Amino acid sequence: VSADPAIRAAEMLARRRRLLGPAYRHFYAEPLEIVRGEGVHLYDADGTEYLDAYNNVPCVGHAHPRVVAAIAAQAGRLNTHTRYLAEPILDYAERLLDSLGAGLGHVMFTCSGSEATDLALRIARFHTGATGVVVTSNAYHGVTTAAAAVSPSLGAAVAPGPEVRTIVPPSPGATADPEREGARMAAELEAAVGELEAEGHGFAAFIADSIFSSDGIVPDPAGFLRPLSAAVADSGGLFIADEVQAGFARTGESMWGFHRHGIQPDLVTMGKPMGNGMPIAAVAARAELLDEFGAATRYFNTFGGNSVCIAAAAAVIDVIEDEGLLANADAVGRLLLDSLVELEQRHEIVRRARGAGLFLGIDVVAPDGDSAALADQVVDGLRERRVLLAATGPAKDVLKIRPPLVFSGADSERLVEALDEVLASLAT
Ligand SMILES: Cc1ncc(COP(=O)(O)O)c(C=O)c1O
Repeated sequence: VSADPAIRAAEMLARRRRLLGPAYRHFYAEPLEIVRGEGVHLYDADGTEYLDAYNNVPCVGHAHPRVVAAIAAQAGRLNTHTRYLAEPILDYAERLLDSLGAGLGHVMFTCSGSEATDLALRIARFHTGATGVVVTSNAYHGVTTAAAAVSPSLGAAVAPGPEVRTIVPPSPGATADPEREGARMAAELEAAVGELEAEGHGFAAFIADSIFSSDGIVPDPAGFLRPLSAAVADSGGLFIADEVQAGFARTGESMWGFHRHGIQPDLVTMGKPMGNGMPIAAVAARAELLDEFGAATRYFNTFGGNSVCIAAAAAVIDVIEDEGLLANADAVGRLLLDSLVELEQRHEIVRRARGAGLFLGIDVVAPDGDSAALADQVVDGLRERRVLLAATGPAKDVLKIRPPLVFSGADSERLVEALDEVLASLAT
């Protein structure tokens, strides 16, 4: 292994491609080798510190001592599955269901968000006897065969499947009229359901990420999902709220993104931040849906809901509560949004700052039209200033700011200062 960092990185990249194959992508043209994390900070192999403004999985901060201790203690005691009785999984399920409310009575555990999507689709299809699913046009719901088929953002080679129809996602225009936007989506949903029925698939479910992350981040105005939710029910399908991105205090006002919209989903999927990096995800459902599903078939997921993952997940909720991270996401998120709006007024190349809690987006707009390339330059410029984030959206021109929930006001200032500098350096 070479001592020269650039040669070392090139060697690792070649080795990675040889061993892992080409399906894995990496961030940055010159990828980072991260070896340690603490709170909102990441450290590379040379000991250089970076501000993490991107990673939502370590929601209570990288290597949070309480989560690490809970994992270690449980791993030293027992790590087993859902075929034995255990109190901690019941205590955790109770807390989770209490926080969800909205008539969700049972929760089942999986190892990934993709498995949660897969299971939610199975439950919806079992209940309705139909297979058709409607999603937004750049949705992402996971990597199993069924989840990939409802994830058009994977590209035409993979999705959508034959029983999948797409509708245009909500517009990120912060001033959009929620009634009109909701009615537009409801009408598109009804048309999509009509097509699915005409082709004999029927309509099982509509599934949407409650913050439309891969569709370009669309938090506002809260409530625009209401007409769509009513149209789903009227059409005889189930509403699946995908909270893999929006859940666990991310959006600042509530533990769950769908609460902001005032809707009552039939099924809710969650994952990513749930175990602060441990592989735990879940599906919560109206009790009667799982009662009928469970009466007809068994479900055993070897690692889903294992003792160590439950211990991690319980510690995550403890930290969110004890460190006031919902209120922090709200307060720091508002500060950050105000600063982004201010940047937008001074820099021609950014527009439409938007966000809910600590999930924010801002469009990068290139005068020559290649906004994705410009967004990449912004992301690279930030990396040079030791701030990490990424771009998202159908055109990859939306800066995605989604840090651990322990992001402070000072962290927000550091991010905004770096972004201000980068935008100034890229102005034409
Ligand atoms: C909205 C959404 N749903 C589902 C998934 C799939 O989760 P996982 O990668 O844990 O399988 C993701 C992952 O990025 C996601 O963003």
